[in-house]
Amino acid sequence: MDIYVDTANLDEIRQAADLGILDGVTTNPSLVAKEGAEFHPHLAKICEIVSGPVSAEVTATDAAGMASQGEELSRIASNIVIKCPCTVAGLKACKALADKEIRTNMTLCFQPSQAWLVAKAGAFLVSPFLGRIDDISGDGVELIHQIRQIYDNYGYETKILAASLRHPKHVVDVALAGADVATIPFGVIKQLMNHPLTDIGLSKFLADWERLQASQ
Ligand code: E4P
Repeated sequence: MDIYVDTANLDEIRQAADLGILDGVTTNPSLVAKEGAEFHPHLAKICEIVSGPVSAEVTATDAAGMASQGEELSRIASNIVIKCPCTVAGLKACKALADKEIRTNMTLCFQPSQAWLVAKAGAFLVSPFLGRIDDISGDGVELIHQIRQIYDNYGYETKILAASLRHPKHVVDVALAGADVATIPFGVIKQLMNHPLTDIGLSKFLADWERLQASQ
């Protein structure tokens, strides 16, 4: 499963890239707004740090507007992927962009039928938002299972990007459900390599080793 970092913060992106296991970045208007930076130059900086797919979201709500914003954003760097919402207008924009060989990430996906239609329209990625489904007492992981089965039944090549992940268990659950990519907040990426028994075990090994050195 590929791993993207879900942030627009340059320090976090640099730190995640330094881990050596980062495949891409997702941003959204809320994450970019948090940075208070100018959109296009900020995206260009992200694309200099990471060579894998970097998602940049359109803000138009009509199909023609989304497609033209998408074309403009795609000129920033060759690794930009255009994020459009899973609406009727987004579906049309997805098809228009796919026809021009511009890759899309279809975001705000909450039901399998949305994932099915955007796959038919040629989406590169679809982003089911697990955490937000769980937030309203739904079953986000089940959505990944359903999309996986539909895509496998018919051989759709759209990649399932599990989004809105809140904790390490979400990450493990989506890997088991067959997601192609997980986009993860930087804080959660750091948690993935932590376990108290690892720390306790390491302290004991080092203490025993020091005792041995002292006795020789
Ligand atoms: C990623 O592409 C999404 O925009 C992001 O994962 C949403 O996460 P949130 O539900 O925590 O805002």
